[in-house]
Amino acid sequence: MAEVTARVSGTMGLTAEQVRRVLRAAGRAPSVHNTQPWRFRLTESAIELHADPRRQLPVADPDGVELRMSCGAALFNLRLALSEVGVRPIVTRMPEPRHPTLLAKVRVGGAKPPTPEEAALVAAIPLRRTNRRPFADDPVSGAHRHELRSAARREGATLDIVADPERLAKLGELSARAHRRQLADPRFVAEFGLWSGETGSRGDGVSARAGGPAPAPRDPWVLRDFTGDRRPEPAGHSSFESEPLIATLTAHTAGPLGDLLAGEALQRVLLTATAHGLAVSPVSQLVELPEIRAAVRELVGTARPPQAVLRIGYGWPVVGSPRLPVEDLLLAGPEQGPGRYRCDRRDPHDRAQLW
Ligand SMILES: Cc1cc2nc3c(=O)[nH]c(=O)nc-3n(C[C@H](O)[C@H](O)[C@H](O)COP(=O)(O)O)c2cc1C
Repeated sequence: MAEVTARVSGTMGLTAEQVRRVLRAAGRAPSVHNTQPWRFRLTESAIELHADPRRQLPVADPDGVELRMSCGAALFNLRLALSEVGVRPIVTRMPEPRHPTLLAKVRVGGAKPPTPEEAALVAAIPLRRTNRRPFADDPVSGAHRHELRSAARREGATLDIVADPERLAKLGELSARAHRRQLADPRFVAEFGLWSGETGSRGDGVSARAGGPAPAPRDPWVLRDFTGDRRPEPAGHSSFESEPLIATLTAHTAGPLGDLLAGEALQRVLLTATAHGLAVSPVSQLVELPEIRAAVRELVGTARPPQAVLRIGYGWPVVGSPRLPVEDLLLAGPEQGPGRYRCDRRDPHDRAQLW
């Protein structure tokens, strides 16, 4: 695969500096294992968002659901960042059915200053982090719960808070069971190892310093160890919050489009949480294994299988994970067709041919 040298240039009447700013914001989105599976092609009239199949997780995410959700989160940031530079974005999702890696085309829909809410969400982009550390024991306020639910709703998804203690306990058991099953799969462990324990040598993967302490046996929500076996000892057997707020996120639409929309909704929820001083960590083992995901759906009673399970609370500042430079996010090539990818770090399993 030939490498492509791409430059950030003006598009849609934006200056090169505005384009860089918008793409940098998009690249700050969360992504599963910090794979950053998004690529952008700049044309005269649009910014195209493409999925990079080489960055899909073949074991944890064989169908590309989390890959598309991650790209949806980047799309939400892109929309917000455009509004910050005074552009009303018009988004066409999945514009070419025969080209499934092309997830969206974003065009200019006129000039419009950002609303106060958009400005607050844009300001939250660089502050948002996945927080895997214990949260305070204070319950999340009713007003904040309302804000989070309404954030999901505005992007075509539902955020269901699992309030019933019995259901919550059962969900915790499912989380621990799913985690054990994944750790028993050497392919999962090998894949996880490729993307965790990052100590500063690359622009992707989860930073070792972004992991939290090991949970006590009764704390089933932060089980994944991203520290590369350097997890700090638990501070005791009650280090994590005693009444965690757990919520499921479910898009109203099925299929790949639903995954993209779920990612946009996820990011709106995460940025709303950040803007209100809340911290979040996803619990993805509950949605990655089909039988567990089905059991979660039955337990919570959602209309469709949920795409994400989130632990939410009031946390303390944590370090973030690295990001790839904007230049590495650019896709060059003809406007139509699959394009060519520049990839720093090749996945051993080449997924490109699957799309
Ligand atoms: C679809 C999706 C699934 C994720 N699943 C998990 C998870 O199960 N556990 C976890 O600790 N973080 C999870 N994350 C968070 C990512 O690891 C995180 O976004 C990435 O490492 C970048 O770090 P940042 O969010 O601090 O910027 C997930 C993120 C996304 C978008």
